[in-house]
Amino acid sequence: MAGMTALTAVILAAGQGTRMRSNLPKVLHELCGRPLVGWPIAAARAAGADRIVVVEGPERLLEGRLGDGVQTAVQPVANGTGGAVRAAADALPREGTVLVLAGDAPLVDGPTLQALVDAHLSSGAAATLLSAEHPDPRGYGRIVRDAGGDVARIVETKAEGDATPEELAIAEVNASVYAFDAAALHDALGRLGTDNAQGELYLTDAVSILRGDGRGVGAHIAEDWQVVLGVNDRVALAEVRALLQRRILEAHMLSGVTVIDPATTYVDADVEIGRDAVLEPMTVLRGATSIGAGSRVGPSATLIDARLGEDVTILNAHVVDAELHDGVTVGPFAYLRPGTVLRAGSKAGTFVELKNSDIGEGTKVPHLSYLGDADVGPGTNIGAANVTANYDGVRKHRTRIGKGVKTAVDTTFVAPVQVGDNAWTGAGAVVRKDVPAGALAVGIPARVIVGYDARRRDQVVSSED
Ligand code: UD1
Ligand code: CA
Repeated sequence: MAGMTALTAVILAAGQGTRMRSNLPKVLHELCGRPLVGWPIAAARAAGADRIVVVEGPERLLEGRLGDGVQTAVQPVANGTGGAVRAAADALPREGTVLVLAGDAPLVDGPTLQALVDAHLSSGAAATLLSAEHPDPRGYGRIVRDAGGDVARIVETKAEGDATPEELAIAEVNASVYAFDAAALHDALGRLGTDNAQGELYLTDAVSILRGDGRGVGAHIAEDWQVVLGVNDRVALAEVRALLQRRILEAHMLSGVTVIDPATTYVDADVEIGRDAVLEPMTVLRGATSIGAGSRVGPSATLIDARLGEDVTILNAHVVDAELHDGVTVGPFAYLRPGTVLRAGSKAGTFVELKNSDIGEGTKVPHLSYLGDADVGPGTNIGAANVTANYDGVRKHRTRIGKGVKTAVDTTFVAPVQVGDNAWTGAGAVVRKDVPAGALAVGIPARVIVGYDARRRDQVVSSED
């Protein structure tokens, strides 16, 4: 039903957030790969909102940081949640449905909003609020019902003086999430007052105003009370993070991903994982990471914006902005930096660092090497401890190594330099000049000093006399 009528969402995010004790606005604190306010934005979208307005403070710290299709409105003074919606009034339609959400409540999800809007539209109420039975309702607004069980008003409890002891005993709390008939909302906004304990414009007073007009106000009780949890300090931020993380992992598990130890696995909201992939303990998947079917990641792997094909294996590694094609193996103990491409079946082994390098199909870089700004063809084997000297102190240069090349241990490539197909290098070679296809590059040969050990011992003995 939600899709049948125009749906606009307004998200309140202009509060001070002082209890965070932070230089960063509360709603920009990161939470499983999104800013806090990104969660209600995503939920509103999932529920079919075609227009999203976020209310921010006069510093305008949110504008331009919330992604495409999100509008901002400015509340010049933080004079309450009613003042926040008033600040957005010009951006809100006069008909249809307006969803109001709190920017600091990240657990409200699309299905919950959809159920709220459906309940609202089918009842024909002027407003429908989301409520929940909270085991510890302190600080929340409480839903006061009349003798007939209908919602009469919301009473605030954060400051002393608004609620009576009987009202404080009510466990049904206001989530700060509402579906309003647009015209009824505009009408009620104009009539909010500040005669309350905090001297603020409470949006919650819209309920008693509409009831006073003889209009219906409904409450949709959330199935899971935890969806109402708001973030006011960093303790709550950690609590909601754990709940969101569990929700993200469960969705992956239900779609065919094995998570060996959910307690030590951290996966951001927008990560994609294919069927039969396995996440071993202590795996951290951040940002826009995607993992193909049948891949195995961890134990102990951090992947940030990494793109993995199918059947990739990663063990003890840190991978940032890299592309790993089908059948690649990585680690243990590898560091793959931005711009790394490992083509199908290739390998970056133990104590290997790669940066801005393209490693060809089936090519192996098994041990103790650093390749930066390198292009390596297919079927090449890089010996242990090979290093590209890619930086001359001013500029970076590329190393180009062909296909079917075999480099010996401790080869150094002084870039810019090219090594042709099927070429070889000898142990310890310092390659300063291009190596033609099929050639062997050797040297610099070491100087050999005979009898050194005996002379050295004599020196030590005589210095002790
Ligand atoms: C509010 C509700 C309360 C509800 C609770 C749920 C009111 C008066 N009270 O209380 O019934 O149980 O949420 O968490 O609405 N904001 C602005 N401008 C302002 C003040 C607040 O944009 O001037 C924003 C805040 O950034 C926040 C949201 O509105 O995202 C809620 O404000 P907050 O002060 O946290 O309200 P609560 O006291 O939690
Ligand atoms: Ca709050």
